[in-house]
Formats: sequence, C-alpha cells, structure tokens
Amino acid sequence: MKKILVTGGTGQIGGAIVRLSRDRGFIADAPQRLKFDLCNPQSISSLLANNDYSALINCAAYTSVDKAESEQELAFRINCEAPSVLAKETGRLGIPLIHVSTDYVFDGTKPGPYTENDDVNPLGIYGRSKAEGEAAVRHYNPKHAIVRTAWVVSAGEGNFLDTMLRLAKERDELNIVNDQQGCPSSAIDIASALLHIAANLDGRSGTWHFVNGGEATWHDLARYIFDRMATMGKRTPQLNAISSAEYPTLAKRPQNSRLCTAAFENDFAMTPRNWRLAVDDILSARLK
Ligand SMILES: NC(=O)c1ccc[n+]([C@@H]2O[C@H](COP(=O)([O-])OP(=O)(O)OC[C@H]3O[C@@H](n4cnc5c(N)ncnc54)[C@H](OP(=O)(O)O)[C@@H]3O)[C@@H](O)[C@H]2O)c1
Repeated sequence: MKKILVTGGTGQIGGAIVRLSRDRGFIADAPQRLKFDLCNPQSISSLLANNDYSALINCAAYTSVDKAESEQELAFRINCEAPSVLAKETGRLGIPLIHVSTDYVFDGTKPGPYTENDDVNPLGIYGRSKAEGEAAVRHYNPKHAIVRTAWVVSAGEGNFLDTMLRLAKERDELNIVNDQQGCPSSAIDIASALLHIAANLDGRSGTWHFVNGGEATWHDLARYIFDRMATMGKRTPQLNAISSAEYPTLAKRPQNSRLCTAAFENDFAMTPRNWRLAVDDILSARLK
C-alpha cells in the first residue's frame, strides 16, 4: 500500500481521509498539531525525509472565517506561508501536493457555477489567505492538485448540520439565510475524491472543483434537515427565511458559492452524488 501524509487529520476532511484511506489502498500518516504545527512548517522536511510518501494531502487550515478578519497574520501564516513551505519541500523531493481550498476565493457575483478558469476575487481575509496559498502551491510545486470545495458538512461537531441538530433541540423558531447559494458537501465524499485524485493524478497538475451534486441555500439545507428529522419523529423548529443583510457577519460571504465539477468529473471519471443523499447518510449516523 502507498503511504500518504495528511495534515489536518483532526478536522472534518482530514479525519475522513484517515478513516477511508485503508479501504482505498493507502496508509495515512496524520501527525497531530503537537507533532506538526503549520506555524512551524519547516519541520515538514524531516517528516518527508524519513518516509516514502506518495503524496501529501494538506487539509489543515485556519478555517475561522469571521475570526480571520481580526487575526489576519495568523490566517496568512497557516493558509499561505505554510502551504508555500509544504510546496517547496514536496516540490524539491518530487512528491505531489494535494491542497484543499475553498469557494471563498471567489466574490460570488457570477450568475452561474464557478469554473476553475474564473478569476479569484476574495471578499475577506480568509478567502485572500486561501487564494494566496493556492498561488504559492502552484508556484513552488509543479506536481500539485488544488481542490476547491465548499459548504462542508459531516457527522462531527462545529459544522452547519451539527448546529441545526443542536438548535432543533433548543429553539422553537429559527431564522436562516436564504440568499446565498452553494453546494453542500460531505466531508466523506470530499475525502473520497481527494484519495481518488491521489491514486489517479498520473503526473497531471491543476486546479479542480469538487462538491456534492445539486445546489441549495442555507435555508434549503436547513429545510431538508428538518424535514428528514420530522420523518424520524424528531422535534423541529419553525424555519423562517431571512436575507444576509438581516444576519450580519464580520466577514462578507459570497452570494454565489456554486462550483462547477465538470472538469473533475471529466478528468477523474467520478461523479459526485447529490448533496441530499450525503446529508441522509450523516443524519442516519447522527440520529440513529
Ligand atoms: N469547512 C468548510 O465549510 C470548508 C469549505 C470550503 C473549503 N474548506 C477547506 O477545507 C479544508 C479542511 O477544512 P475542514 O472543514 O476539514 O477544517 P476543520 O474541520 O476546521 O479542521 C482544520 C484542521 O486544521 C488543523 N490546523 C489548524 N491550524 C493548524 C496548525 N497551526 N497546525 C496544524 N494543524 C492545524 C486543525 O487541527 P486542530 O484540531 O489541532 O485544531 C484541524 O485538523 C481547509 O483547507 C478549508 O479551507 C472548508
């Protein structure tokens, strides 16, 4: 089995990679932050030198979108400077770097789904730090795959779906934004796509979009979750649709976060399933 190095193994996507890797023919090493801190990325060289990795999948990131507005230096250190070091070191050793990025590199003004050829124009610090991280990866390692995804949900804590499950218990009524569009995407499905890319990159490099199929607003996603919960006899709150203007956040979100997956589907012969099926699986795991 081929060995891969995975950063962010305690996170949603990295954790899913660790869980899936054996079934997909990989042995995943996922050092915890104590052993490999992206604030000290130079230590990657000893990790890489002492092992025979077929790829590095970088899932670790500074992901607090609102906090990034006041922690700009830290966000850039983790999302831009660290990937730049990872790219230099993997590039020097000829190891492919698979780097996870985000819909937040776009400004959301495009009427349709974003393709890999669309210009980036991030609205906030998090998006800027990720866009510059992508540029560094492209610059320093010719063997790269930058994989943008969006609206990640999982059976773990701290994502939108988890928040809805918690609030369903606590609240009688909920206001959810209905004017941002995106593609809800399961961490497991993203991990599966990343491992598929690791197995089939075959010397190619580039940027690809991977999200689950279909599209939704946050309100649509909440509606779907609560409808499914109701069929399982669970308590659900009344759901109201509001605008982004009625739910101000420190960082501005793109109105349109939809990502086109045609290039990924064509290049890797894999079709993402609809987000509703992915959400069904997570709800079954959480509510059984
Ligand atoms: N979540 C989304 O909706 C979303 C949407 C689009 C793209 N993405 C991208 O997808 C990737 C993974 O996101 P996710 O949702 O899986 O992230 P997550 O659940 O927030 O996990 C982040 C991971 O990064 C690690 N990390 C943070 N700072 C670190 C540091 N200084 N040194 C080492 N590790 C550090 C965390 O480790 P600790 O456990 O030690 O904190 C954790 O394992 C990121 O590139 C993100 O930009 C996410």
